[in-house]
Amino acid sequence: MQCNPALFVLDPAELRYGLENLTYGSLTTRGMRTMVQRLKVHIPDPEQMEGLDLGCGDGELIYHLQNELPGSRWWGVELCGSRVAKQHRPVFIWEGDMLDENYRDYTVLHADNLCLEERIAEQLETKVAREFQGLYITYRTPTTPVFFRNARLLESVPMEATWGVHNVHFYRI
Ligand SMILES: C[S@@+](CC[C@H](N)C(=O)[O-])C[C@H]1O[C@@H](n2cnc3c(N)ncnc32)[C@H](O)[C@@H]1O
Repeated sequence: MQCNPALFVLDPAELRYGLENLTYGSLTTRGMRTMVQRLKVHIPDPEQMEGLDLGCGDGELIYHLQNELPGSRWWGVELCGSRVAKQHRPVFIWEGDMLDENYRDYTVLHADNLCLEERIAEQLETKVAREFQGLYITYRTPTTPVFFRNARLLESVPMEATWGVHNVHFYRI
């Protein structure tokens, strides 16, 4: 993982989305390997992995996931056009709001959602609980009642990220 420093520079127009929401960070190479290992445990056949990265930056993480998990397929959605424009790897990413996406077509959702404003993080959790079925990977500890009605915690795993070691939660929805 390189975590391109240019991803931390934002077009001033994008600040309308809220600085908190746009905070950038990612797994380190070691963290990404832990992620790959845990994904293999929860979905042993990579062909069954149809993943969406919710806020994917330039798509670096999904690039590594698809390479480390041959047969898996990954997509990414990102709010900041300037980050999408920095894509330089062969990945499927597009500019958009994760809350406008349809999650029904995926078997894995990855949400590095720690920095989302509370209100948005709760909207995301509610949407995941209502329309998604599969493996939900969340960096934020869930809080919404509707989520707990539909989700089962599989495990919480410490992973190395650019800001330190963080417990990442795996839920079956
Ligand atoms: C912490 S970074 C995670 C990057 C990448 N997923 C990773 O784990 O390497 C979170 C990303 O989510 C994006 N983001 C925030 N709100 C979003 C939204 N509503 N829809 C899509 N992307 C969003 C931010 O711009 C940022 O690039």
